[in-house]
Amino acid sequence: MTNLAAKWGMDESHFWLHGQEPQEIVRFDEQTGLWNVYGHAETLRILEDPTTFSSNTARVFAADNDMDFGDAFAGNPTQMDPPFHGKLRRLVSRAFTPKTVADLAPRIAALTHELLDEVAGRDRVEIVSALAYHLPVIVIAELLGVPAGDRELFKDWVEKIFDNDQQMSVKQTEEQRREIEEGLELSRKLHDYLRGHADERRHTPRQDLLTGLVEAEVDGERLTPTEVANFANVLLIGGHVTTTMLMGNTLLCLDAEPDADARVRADRSLLPSVIEESLRYLTPFASLYRVTTTDVEIAGQRIPKDRLVGVRIGAANRDKRVFERPHTFDPDRGPNPHIGFGRGIHFCIGAPLARLEGRIALDILLDRFPVLRADPENPPTFLPSPDLTGVKTLTLLTS
Ligand code: HEM
Repeated sequence: MTNLAAKWGMDESHFWLHGQEPQEIVRFDEQTGLWNVYGHAETLRILEDPTTFSSNTARVFAADNDMDFGDAFAGNPTQMDPPFHGKLRRLVSRAFTPKTVADLAPRIAALTHELLDEVAGRDRVEIVSALAYHLPVIVIAELLGVPAGDRELFKDWVEKIFDNDQQMSVKQTEEQRREIEEGLELSRKLHDYLRGHADERRHTPRQDLLTGLVEAEVDGERLTPTEVANFANVLLIGGHVTTTMLMGNTLLCLDAEPDADARVRADRSLLPSVIEESLRYLTPFASLYRVTTTDVEIAGQRIPKDRLVGVRIGAANRDKRVFERPHTFDPDRGPNPHIGFGRGIHFCIGAPLARLEGRIALDILLDRFPVLRADPENPPTFLPSPDLTGVKTLTLLTS
């Protein structure tokens, strides 16, 4: 297999995609002030110990930069620690059940066909704008109960939040601060939009996830209106870009690996393992962040209290101590203990939905297009954020 990252000019900062090893498993970066962790075992240790490695990164970030985030993160599980985090997850799991997800299968298939009908007969299809962007957004919007027709509105907000190339660092430059302020402003717009819909559900309940979040109760307690809106916000954003990247990335892997493409076309029962390997090989959320709550030693390095840790799960997913031939896309890998959906108490809530959408959409795509090849004349482009690994556009030739 040609090195996919080199072939398409993927960012050099994602050195693991270029087959390079980290200089050290845990390394302090003077420039950003971050402690970077690249190993698989070390990543698991961090993600499975929320007492020592807190998710509330906004706390130190705000203190170091003299910023005030107000209640921007209230109800945002990705910033919460135990015990509140567990309570929120329990509330949400009342509304977002495995059955809620499984019941979506026919709708996902119908939407995929509808979107692909629009590009039927074309010899060249840009798959992100044709399918991979719209499908997950429509599904999550319908699930929440907000009009999918408003998606051009979210697209604008969400794209601006993700479409930046700023690197996370302890001390922010003026430009980075401005980017953060702009991101918060866009999140607030999304919050207000969702809050309006959630408030309406309090008076007029419907059969949707927003109503479920408004009504969910654990030990006699419910989510506050701000928490409902912020949580729905995370679902809407989380339900967007990530699944889009998963679909585009998987198609790019199949393009680079014609044997795997031929095999999965002939035997669709291989699709789930193709998807898992794609999550390992091109990990959409390549970095997670934590903050130390005490001095701690990891891989021989002592990290002081209150320091930001960059957990590079994209690199951990290529750790040669765990994965044989880590730089080969191999759908036969078994077991495949990748960390593409995280690990521990913050394990991705949307993983079953992302897997279902990926499987159904790819299955239908392979049925409808006997050939799908990346167009060398319109090479794929990638999201610019150093924390994401995913196609932004992918033009495919269909003959
Ligand atoms: C391929 C698609 C996806 C990938 C790669 C992905 C990845 C992740 C990862 C790595 C985490 C862990 C974050 C951490 O530990 O700090 C996470 C958490 C989360 N994801 Fe996903 N995700 C995907 C799809 C989705 C979808 C479709 C939804 C919504 C329906 C979603 C909602 C969430 C939420 C709410 C959390 C926070 C969980 C918590 O903090 O307890 N994700 N995701």
